[in-house]
Amino acid sequence: MLTSIKRVCCIGAGYVGGPTMTVLANKCPEVIFNVVDMNIGRIKAWNSKNLDDLPIYEPGLKELIAKCRNKNLIFSCDVEKHIESADMVFISVNTPTKKSGIGAGKASDLKWIESCSRQIGKYAKGHTIVVEKSTLPVKTAETIKSILSASLDNDKKINAEKKSFAILSNPEFLAEGTAINDLQNPDRVLIGGDDIEAINTLKKIYLNWVREDKIITTDLWSSELSKLIANAFLAQRISSINSISALCEQTDADINNVAKAIGMDSRIGDKFLNAGPGFGGSCFKKDISNLVYICNHYGLFEVANYWEQIININNWQRKRISEIIVQTLFGTISGKKISILGFSFKPNTNDTRESPAIEICNDLLDEGCNLSIYDPRVDQKQIINDLGFNDKENLTKDQLTIHENAIETIINADAIVIITDWEEFYDLDFELFFQKMRRPSWVFDTRDVVNHSKLKNIGFRVWKLGKGNI
Ligand code: NAD
Ligand code: UGA
Repeated sequence: MLTSIKRVCCIGAGYVGGPTMTVLANKCPEVIFNVVDMNIGRIKAWNSKNLDDLPIYEPGLKELIAKCRNKNLIFSCDVEKHIESADMVFISVNTPTKKSGIGAGKASDLKWIESCSRQIGKYAKGHTIVVEKSTLPVKTAETIKSILSASLDNDKKINAEKKSFAILSNPEFLAEGTAINDLQNPDRVLIGGDDIEAINTLKKIYLNWVREDKIITTDLWSSELSKLIANAFLAQRISSINSISALCEQTDADINNVAKAIGMDSRIGDKFLNAGPGFGGSCFKKDISNLVYICNHYGLFEVANYWEQIININNWQRKRISEIIVQTLFGTISGKKISILGFSFKPNTNDTRESPAIEICNDLLDEGCNLSIYDPRVDQKQIINDLGFNDKENLTKDQLTIHENAIETIINADAIVIITDWEEFYDLDFELFFQKMRRPSWVFDTRDVVNHSKLKNIGFRVWKLGKGNI
């Protein structure tokens, strides 16, 4: 007999927990979803009256929140209370790369996983299905199991009410900017575990809107590992095409033509072949670093070195863009004004984690230029914080200005650098921009946004990634 889920608790109201539970709540109106987080500010923002003040920007999110918030979707900081009442607990907490100690810079920091496992062990009642939603190193479920079973031993000693746990892995494959669509129409749902009843209970939730043949079930370890490998393969494609973008620039080939030609081979496929300033986002680098760490741990040094190259090419791509900008602007940008269009790591999100903009902007600031930045969704404080601007003693205040629209950034600018391909950048009024910029006026397009012939006719000098100076 399947357990019928009445109350779900999701620990972590971030980029995964928030949108995922919102979609689940919309698809399963008979289940109550309590999304809890220890970050009071974040929970307040999820409860904002004005839906434009939600902590996360995702197309389609606010409309779904409007439908079910405070009905069967509740955001709060009552972690203990909602663990206690839940039949199923999703762990959606952050798993960033460790900053210090053993494995620093590579291994995942599992302290948040451990702390919420302990909370679940302490407060859960009756039978609870614990679902790993966070991306985790393979074998993490063993750690969670061990923490939970230790809590059972403790309960036995004090004759507490009987409780039990089943553990599942259910990694999330959503991409930011398309999260709602990805959740509503997933390519697949992956559930790993060894407790058939628990697997079927979770499967039943997804069956509310996902076709059965799209729900795959595996053992725990294959499920945990598949998530890391999916991200590694996606990132690998980006580093592969980015490495070729540099070769195109040297040989007068055009990266778009190459991507199209290879992408039409159905064995290769045409997705994820857009060359750019390198992948950003909170996960690709962290997950590959983790994969490298695990391979080294098992003595698979060649495998580790192979995957590490994906990150090396990504770092190199960013560096070479800032170097090209400096070289092109006659070897010095000291005192020059550069307009930066786009700061988020991709369009349709306000997330700046690992955004290529951060490193490119920092490199340019180090060369002494003045940056003028516009992003449609990232707020000023975030940009200042990401650039560590207030902590840099060698920089003056006028070296960084942040604007509410693109045109304000380009007044007297020497160059425009397009870093994120926001939709609105495809329709900029470059004729007007040209009149307001210093000469010679440059456009550096790292995302294939502008029409270079049109810009050249206006009078711009244009550099495009994967094409060079054209
Ligand atoms: P996030 O940092 O946006 O959110 C995590 C939240 O968990 C934070 O708000 C934090 O305060 C909260 N938290 C941590 N420990 C807690 C505890 N003990 N009790 C209560 N709250 C706690 O992270 P995210 O981007 O949502 O990612 C979460 C996980 O999902 C990561 O493992 C990530 O790799 C994975 N993932 C992320 C994405 C994505 O697009 N961001 C996609 C797929 C998978
Ligand atoms: C990625 C994966 O696509 C998701 O499946 C996964 O769930 C998620 O990571 C995660 O685990 O966090 P996300 O990072 O949100 O999603 O966004 P992507 O669309 O994958 O883009 C990542 C980066 O690669 C962005 O900086 C983007 O601009 C860049 N990119 C993407 C390219 O440079 N070229 C491409 O062709 C595609």
